[in-house]
Amino acid sequence: MPLPISLSIICRTFYSLTVFWFTNAALDLIKNKQVQAIIGPQSSVQADFIIDLGNKSHVPIISFSATSPSLSSIRRPYFIRAAQNDSSQVNAISAVVQAFGWREAVLIYVDNEFGEGIIPSLTDALEEVDTRVPYRSLIPPSATDNQIGQELYKLKTMQTRVFIVHMLPTLGSRLFAKAKEAGMMGRGYVWILTSGITDLLSFVDSSVVAISMQGVLGIKTYVPDTRNLDNFMVQWKKKFQQENPSVLSPPLNIFGYYAYDAARALAMAVEEMGTVNFTFQILNASTDATDLDTIGVSQNGEKLLQELANMTFMGLTGNFSLVDGQLESSVFQIVNINGNAARGIGFWTVKNGLLRNLNPFDTSKYSTSKSNLGTIIWPGDSTSVPKGWEFPTTRKSLKILVPVKDDFNQFVTVTYDPTTNTSQVTGYCIDIFQAVIEKLPYALTYELIPFTLPNGSSAGSYNDMIDQVYYQNYDAVVGDTTILANRSLHVDFTLPYTESGVAMLVPYEDNKSKNAWVFLKPLTWDLWLTSGCFFVFIALVVWILEHRINEDFRGPTTHQVGTSLWFSFSTMVFAQMQNSQPTITDVYQLLNSGERVGYQNGGFIHEMLKQMKFDDYRLVSYKSAEECDALLSKGSSKGGIAAAIDEVPYIRLILSQYCNKYLTIPTFKTAGFGFVFPKGSPLVPDISRAILNITEGPNMTKIEKAWFTSETNCLESTPSSSSNSLGLDSFWGLFVIAGVVAVLALLIYMVMFVKRNWRVITSSSASLWQKIVALGRRF
Ligand SMILES: *[C@@H]1O[C@H](CO)[C@@H](O)[C@H](O)[C@H]1NC(C)=O
Ligand SMILES: *[C@@H]1O[C@H](CO)[C@@H](O)[C@H](O)[C@H]1NC(C)=O
Ligand SMILES: *[C@@H]1O[C@H](CO)[C@@H](O)[C@H](O)[C@H]1NC(C)=O
Ligand SMILES: *[C@@H]1O[C@H](CO)[C@@H](O)[C@H](O)[C@H]1NC(C)=O
Repeated sequence: MPLPISLSIICRTFYSLTVFWFTNAALDLIKNKQVQAIIGPQSSVQADFIIDLGNKSHVPIISFSATSPSLSSIRRPYFIRAAQNDSSQVNAISAVVQAFGWREAVLIYVDNEFGEGIIPSLTDALEEVDTRVPYRSLIPPSATDNQIGQELYKLKTMQTRVFIVHMLPTLGSRLFAKAKEAGMMGRGYVWILTSGITDLLSFVDSSVVAISMQGVLGIKTYVPDTRNLDNFMVQWKKKFQQENPSVLSPPLNIFGYYAYDAARALAMAVEEMGTVNFTFQILNASTDATDLDTIGVSQNGEKLLQELANMTFMGLTGNFSLVDGQLESSVFQIVNINGNAARGIGFWTVKNGLLRNLNPFDTSKYSTSKSNLGTIIWPGDSTSVPKGWEFPTTRKSLKILVPVKDDFNQFVTVTYDPTTNTSQVTGYCIDIFQAVIEKLPYALTYELIPFTLPNGSSAGSYNDMIDQVYYQNYDAVVGDTTILANRSLHVDFTLPYTESGVAMLVPYEDNKSKNAWVFLKPLTWDLWLTSGCFFVFIALVVWILEHRINEDFRGPTTHQVGTSLWFSFSTMVFAQMQNSQPTITDVYQLLNSGERVGYQNGGFIHEMLKQMKFDDYRLVSYKSAEECDALLSKGSSKGGIAAAIDEVPYIRLILSQYCNKYLTIPTFKTAGFGFVFPKGSPLVPDISRAILNITEGPNMTKIEKAWFTSETNCLESTPSSSSNSLGLDSFWGLFVIAGVVAVLALLIYMVMFVKRNWRVITSSSASLWQKIVALGRRF
């Protein structure tokens, strides 16, 4: 169909992608040929200049392949993208990453406008699914194979094994050939291609695909198979064969479809406009063809742009309709490269997320479940999902810091052996860590390095030690490190492996009197026995004294016995038994009391107490359980402390050594001790899972017994309940008094009884035996 417009420039674009636009050519077309529209540029590189040119001269620039999102039509309305921009696929990429739970991904992209365009939106999309981008690798378009190799070796020494590649096939072919050489196309590696390569896979050297790209995943623009498309292909093949008899299987990809649709849209827009005078208003005449000032302005540019914006028709790739000057994103196919080709394993749509099969009536929610994808054969011919990270090949074992402390060394003990210049690290935390590592589904080697100065003393506080992991000098900290909110700003903690919380350790009220008047369960066996005997004895005394005058003691013998026992029991139990009271019952009482408070040296409790407005002079530090006991025994008034505040694991340790002296009061909640790893470390979820496994199993008790309860001679005691078990010595005072009173009462009664019955005793008419029998009857 003849058109009154310079459309000669598009006549070949949809046959192949060999036409290339140079800025000079565009300038020449606009200025000298006075074209009304340009289809192009093909590449995002240098597109800016041409778009500016179109904007200035009101000539619509219709690109079907400049996909970089950085080329936006917001500020330059004469730029029309008859294609999707690269950012449309970022949510499909992040959905795949999320489906397999990879926490880190490295971006590899070509260092130009095309490569950079997608990066901001891709990074955002990954962040949204909690995936970190620890490194971006920029490959210059002109990089030599050597440079590419060097960059790849650098990536290989890092931990992340998930690579997202955004570049075009020419550079991509070389990258993958080098990656194969570097051993990075084997088991454990994950490669994800953006549509930049996947859509143009036929342009990648077929030997590279077959040898170096096995197992690679890709995001591909999905083109539904329509009658429209089939008809076009038949016609196009026929025409192509006529013109190029030497080419056997002509390549045509999605950009060919876009180009065809773009040309069609433009032709239809021009037809819509009818016969108008296509002229340029020349503002400045000049003979210099490259002088930008002399460009004219197309008189019909605005009208043409409007027609294009409103154009809708069924194109080769689906419904052609421009939104904000570009095609909208719709559906992407997820592919897996096996053999010579990309095999479809599923789809991604804006509405449903990952899907095995497309179904326009699918009403299911957005999902990123990997079960929605088909079988994937990963690099190295593996079918198991790669973890996405590995230990850096340059460093085979984890460098783990451990704290060095003089006391409370049940948790971690470092013993230095000068003869071998090595340190031995043992302790409760270390045993737990070892048990956890054994539970991991893979082997993990590590090296424990004490946090010391050359002279063997600790190199700083726990915060300093944790900062070493943040500065990436070490890979982890294993020790009695408490999980705290502000520490977790810089590092990641595993789940806690100890009981959590901060508690107060306080003495019982009356320590010095040996607790003679303290009545508390549980009683020891000799106490129970003595109580039992006393019980019967008192019952007898009460009966003797009361049975004649108390109404309750009348009646049958069984009733009398029962009542006697009840009287005895109630007087013993209800009158005297009381619970022991701790001297201080909560931390606010302590704060207001003005008494001195102890805390463990080097921990975070000092900071915490200061935040609670405890004055500095009231805070006394201790280094060991012995020192803490000594301070508490002295008492606040004599230079000691009234209470010690510490974390529950330490409190338990102190109690296990001094179990009869103290009581604990839970004070604050903390999360307990956890191991420290760098932020985003992929080890954290695995280790946390293993910790749960250990803490719920019998191993934990074994380890605890080995380090803590071996030195205690207490009965089982928990920090929240009283640690005091009562023996006979706690009650001897009571028993003596009760015994003496009972015997006295009995004697007085006897004397009074005998006096009252003196007449019977002194009557001489009876024998001694008869007198006793008579007295008994009266009784
Ligand atoms: C790219 O396409 C997506 C989806 O169609 C859209 O949300 C986004 O705004 C576009 N970006 C630019 C820079 O045009
Ligand atoms: C036309 O050219 C003259 C110099 O040749 C320049 O001063 C003037 O600004 C130009 N006008 C426009 C509209 O570009
Ligand atoms: C002991 O070993 C450390 C490193 O493990 C080393 O820096 C130090 O020089 C050694 N000291 C001696 C006396 O060999
Ligand atoms: C945590 O807070 C304390 C003060 O309460 C401060 O000294 C310390 O530096 C903080 N740590 C971090 C990692 O921000």
